[in-house]
Amino acid sequence: MAVEALFRAATEADVPALAEVEHLAFAVPNWPADTFLRYDCTVAEIEGRIAAFLVSRQIFPGNEMAPPEREILNLAVVPAFRRSGLATQLLKLEFQNSAVFLLEVRESNLAARALYERLGFVEISRRKDYYDHPPETAIVMQMK
Ligand SMILES: CC(C)(COP(=O)(O)OP(=O)(O)OC[C@H]1O[C@@H](n2cnc3c(N)ncnc32)[C@H](O)[C@@H]1OP(=O)(O)O)[C@@H](O)C(=O)NCCC(=O)NCCS
Repeated sequence: MAVEALFRAATEADVPALAEVEHLAFAVPNWPADTFLRYDCTVAEIEGRIAAFLVSRQIFPGNEMAPPEREILNLAVVPAFRRSGLATQLLKLEFQNSAVFLLEVRESNLAARALYERLGFVEISRRKDYYDHPPETAIVMQMK
């Protein structure tokens, strides 16, 4: 069941809350607080609190031969609001950009893989030992 949230661009004032969501969402958080606003960062706000974020960037602007490419760099939803459609809504907002989308996901992250597959991402390659803490293969996924 989709939850009502306000979706907006993150601001400097959101940085502590973004770091908190990162800590709640990941067993081993690896995004320092000062990295979120280096990229395009969208938040989902529920009753004044940040419940989820998506961070992305353009990695190729596109040319006459190939479309633009964007990378999903980070995505997290606080445990209390999971399975409420927030990640889906954040990704659908991201898809309003006209681009090919790429991302990496841990092989063991079945929740995220299910989410991405459901939205049309397909595996295009694997990168062995891409991640640290713990070391793990990355699955590279793409959506056109
Ligand atoms: C992965 C994550 C972002 C999903 O966020 P979410 O808001 O709960 O996802 P949604 O509610 O939009 O889920 C959409 C669909 O994805 C799939 N999905 C999501 N979580 C799932 C899970 N735990 N197990 C199986 N499928 C799952 C389901 O198909 C789901 O649809 P359904 O709820 O109708 O069955 C969230 O679990 C999370 O923050 N995890 C920790 C951080 C993380 O792993 N980020 C991704 C890094 S690549």
